[in-house]
Amino acid sequence: MRAARDGRVVVLVGASSGIGRATAHRLARRGDALVLSSRSRAVLDVVARECQDVAPPGWPGAYVLPTDVTDRDAVEVLLRRAVDRFGRVDAVMVSAAVVAYGRFVDVPADVFDRAQLVNLLGTANVARAALDLFTGGRGGHLVVVGSLLGRITTPWMSSYVAGKWGVHGLTRTLQQEMRREAGVHVSLVAPGSVDTPVYSQAGSYSGRVGRPPPPVVRPEAVARAVERVLEHPRPMVSVGAGNALMVTAFRLLPRLFDALVTPLMSVLGLSRDKVAPHSGNVWSPTPEGEAVHGRWGRQWLRLPLAAGVAVSGIAVVRALRRAA
Ligand SMILES: NC(=O)c1ccc[n+]([C@@H]2O[C@H](COP(=O)([O-])OP(=O)(O)OC[C@H]3O[C@@H](n4cnc5c(N)ncnc54)[C@H](OP(=O)(O)O)[C@@H]3O)[C@@H](O)[C@H]2O)c1
Repeated sequence: MRAARDGRVVVLVGASSGIGRATAHRLARRGDALVLSSRSRAVLDVVARECQDVAPPGWPGAYVLPTDVTDRDAVEVLLRRAVDRFGRVDAVMVSAAVVAYGRFVDVPADVFDRAQLVNLLGTANVARAALDLFTGGRGGHLVVVGSLLGRITTPWMSSYVAGKWGVHGLTRTLQQEMRREAGVHVSLVAPGSVDTPVYSQAGSYSGRVGRPPPPVVRPEAVARAVERVLEHPRPMVSVGAGNALMVTAFRLLPRLFDALVTPLMSVLGLSRDKVAPHSGNVWSPTPEGEAVHGRWGRQWLRLPLAAGVAVSGIAVVRALRRAA
């Protein structure tokens, strides 16, 4: 067993890519002992070396343990072995997720089901194992990475939206149930668009490759939010300049929202790149595509286009209302 000394012991589930990988770097920099998990062992080994490069002297290290979140027993073993390795676990973050683009009727049923298994039930598996560890006076912090798409809906992403709404509902319920558990915190971090490989890793049955609609933040911004929430537990943190506006429009102006979301999504949420139907990394990992960043860093340049489409959409809806 390696002692974790003053730093925390944090388990990151989904650590091989995007937000999980950026968070691994950030927490290693402050000296936290890390347990890195996802399905791709080779990539996790690379992430462990990246963490070593940025960690302070005396860092207790990163322990790599590949796990598929859909395997409940394996998730329990992951947390047990984390405790064996470092003596305790202070926090668990789950950011494992997959996406399959396409209209609900075009996404094969087994692909849709598998996305629920990973995104919702996988998160539940991690939450259950973490809370088993944290309750009964031991304490600990569960951080669930949700999404703006756990608060609004958009076409062509039903496999993801359904799971994320479930994740948000589950997390809120856990927060209610954990209120009287001493030292146990449950936080939801809900980003808008983030420039990670998730879009190119995704399956697609829409004929096109997905991309993040603007405004797009870097995964490091989400990692910073995770670090802050670990230091100052909060129930919910939203990351992204447009999130509040979109949630407000979704709730208060549902007809206008629904009229605009399809053209906006078509222009901004699907790239011009054509692709034959495929399941991406839904069933098994595609390690060659895993990295911290995606290829969408300059996506903010599309904001004026988004504004143009939104203004035209409002004009069309008004004209239709007048004509009716
Ligand atoms: N990027 C965005 O715009 C955005 C926006 C809002 C919310 N989010 C959320 O942020 C989180 C991280 O997304 P990201 O953008 O960083 O995606 P990403 O770069 O594709 O990373 C996803 C991670 O999940 C792991 N994973 C996938 N299936 C798994 C399984 N069955 N078991 C264990 N691990 C699995 C992947 O590794 P393996 O494939 O090797 O297992 C990878 O490490 C997700 O919850 C996502 O919903 C992302």
